[in-house]
Amino acid sequence: MQSRLLCLLYLGAAAAQSYFGNALLDGLELLRRGQRQMDLEASDHRDQLLREYDFIVVGAGTAGCALAARLSENPNWQVLLLEAGGPENYIMDMPIMAHYLQLGEMNWKYRTQSSNSYCLAMNNNRCNWPRGKVMGGSSVLNYMMYTRGNRRDYDRWEALGNPGWGYDELLPYFRKYEGSLIPDADSGNARHGRKGPVKISYSDYHTPIAAAFVEASQQAGQTRRDYNGQDQLGVSYLQANIGNGTRWSSNRAYLYPLKGKRRNLHIKKNALVTKVLIDPQTKTAYGIMVQTDGRMQKVLARKEVIVSAGAINTPQLLMLSGVGPAKHLREVGIKPIADLAVGYNLQDHTAPAVTFTTNVTSLKFEDFADPTWLTRFNRREGPYGSPGGCEAIAFWDLDHESDEDGWPDIELFMVGGSMSSNPAISRAFGLKKSIYDALFAEIEDKSLNAFMIFPMILRPKSRGRIMLKSSDPFKYPLIHANYFAHPYDVDISVRGLLKAISLMEQQGMKAINAKLWERKIPTCKQHPYKSWAYWTCYVRHFTFTIYHYSGTAKMGPKSDRAAVVDARLRVYGIRNLRVADASIMPEIMSGHPNGPVFMIAEKAADMIKQDYGYIK
Ligand SMILES: Cc1cc2nc3c(=O)[nH]c(=O)nc-3n(C[C@H](O)[C@H](O)[C@H](O)COP(=O)(O)OP(=O)(O)OC[C@H]3O[C@@H](n4cnc5c(N)ncnc54)[C@H](O)[C@@H]3O)c2cc1C
Ligand SMILES: *[C@@H]1O[C@H](CO)[C@@H](O)[C@H](O)[C@H]1NC(C)=O
Ligand SMILES: *[C@@H]1O[C@H](CO)[C@@H](O)[C@H](O)[C@H]1NC(C)=O
Repeated sequence: MQSRLLCLLYLGAAAAQSYFGNALLDGLELLRRGQRQMDLEASDHRDQLLREYDFIVVGAGTAGCALAARLSENPNWQVLLLEAGGPENYIMDMPIMAHYLQLGEMNWKYRTQSSNSYCLAMNNNRCNWPRGKVMGGSSVLNYMMYTRGNRRDYDRWEALGNPGWGYDELLPYFRKYEGSLIPDADSGNARHGRKGPVKISYSDYHTPIAAAFVEASQQAGQTRRDYNGQDQLGVSYLQANIGNGTRWSSNRAYLYPLKGKRRNLHIKKNALVTKVLIDPQTKTAYGIMVQTDGRMQKVLARKEVIVSAGAINTPQLLMLSGVGPAKHLREVGIKPIADLAVGYNLQDHTAPAVTFTTNVTSLKFEDFADPTWLTRFNRREGPYGSPGGCEAIAFWDLDHESDEDGWPDIELFMVGGSMSSNPAISRAFGLKKSIYDALFAEIEDKSLNAFMIFPMILRPKSRGRIMLKSSDPFKYPLIHANYFAHPYDVDISVRGLLKAISLMEQQGMKAINAKLWERKIPTCKQHPYKSWAYWTCYVRHFTFTIYHYSGTAKMGPKSDRAAVVDARLRVYGIRNLRVADASIMPEIMSGHPNGPVFMIAEKAADMIKQDYGYIK
């Protein structure tokens, strides 16, 4: 009631819809203006590129910033970091603004190919696949949810034939980047790093729904614990890549502190790499072509080119350079240099969000979209420090619920608002208007308090593929998400969704009068409501990506014909070329990959330093 009153006061005579529309535009305008406000990275801002560097890192995302910072620790190495996007700005610093960032130029705005079996609730049956195009890459667009994954994920990577990638051997790398501020973190064997560059903290803002979620999960049998400690199963408030109420991007973590201190690190923004130059005779990478400052330039690499362009652009760039499936390359007119399974093995996490109403106050747009937002953010008041509304998280192993040390197959994460809390959300997902109107418009019209639980599948069995549309580097690649190709993925999604709904039977949820929001998807009406068939239909409509694309330059032993890089991340058959980003994951880990990608970059940096004798 009170929040409704505030809302009305605030809206004045304007209709809610038009106010929301204006505020949306205001937000976007701020993003555009903000774009020019900051330039805080460590660049030695030489405008001219040198003819030659020791290392060229392509892409300043989660992995690329970390790699460039670590490699340039050797003052004798000249390092060039190339990024297609521009600088970060202060709107991106505000954790609550996460949804907005997908609407601006800092997003590549990829979309999956149309399908008849998934993404059915999205415009043209295509899911939006956002990706950061900005210093910091997707760590600037992401929801900051921090998870390491399960130790078995990495033990499995090692068992697949990748020595050095078991969890015990990786722990020092997790600790190296972690600057954890989590007060009650596990202090045992798997303890957090405290001194690394990447801040991790609990958000300073929560709706009362978060406490209800944690309580209800405990009542349903879960232990409350640090899911980034020894055991992962259980429930917790979200640990986030946030420090002092601010998004902690890879750029902020690794490059801001170096500003003015690294003469041997050259960072070039607005620089799109179009090709890795590879000598077809010696099969050696020796440089790159880059479009920047209005012209195409060639830059040479004395030692190596490292591709960290993310799981969509990395396979695209490799294929443009002649590294990929020979038949496919020939089809688009590219001469193959190494015949490798680039672009295959594409994996992602999806979650069919479920909406619930409650009688406690949920996050609403007007809570933060008000004229005092900048002052309030700077004072760390209000919900600005909430990572896009994500508040709490629980890991379930549905077949072994009583095994505390299980390997989860489902994650439930709770968001303190609904699809109608903020006009940017349904836009970001590209939700069809007919679906929005049938399911969520009433929540908006009546200003109801509502929240969502996302049942995210952790170990999908379907595999998609990235393909070239053409040999033109400025054309986007084709994304075949291939969600639900394997029936397991549908099945586990429905089971996760039912688990989320079952939490409403617990006292913690009853106390906030939490109820499933029962509105039918019009195009699922042929199935009895709440039947298994109905939920299957629901899952195929609400195929929300959680943006964890990975696996498209698979790490594996030589005997694995699907492998693109070896355990030292060197591209098979090509000298002086490595990949270090989410593409190398042989199997996606059970959680959110931003942290694991930092780990991959830290390990890659050490392996490179070893290979060139800088460290033992
Ligand atoms: C909207 C969204 C929400 C997410 N939420 C979470 C979350 O809450 N928690 C979590 O752990 N993970 C989350 N993720 C996933 C996580 O952010 C990514 O897995 C991670 O950032 C991937 O890192 P990367 O280094 O592989 O790629 P990226 O960080 O995407 O970096 C690639 C960089 O390369 C640049 N680039 C690409 N091609 C070229 C080229 N040809 N020339 C020059 N530069 C190029 C890109 O512009 C980009 O800056 C989210 C991702 C998105 C998009
Ligand atoms: C936290 O952020 C506030 C607001 O920008 C700033 O004044 C303060 O110095 C920051 N604190 C730390 C420890 O960085
Ligand atoms: C919400 O509903 C529950 C259950 O009906 C009730 O016990 C509780 O007092 C209500 N809380 C508020 C804030 O109205």
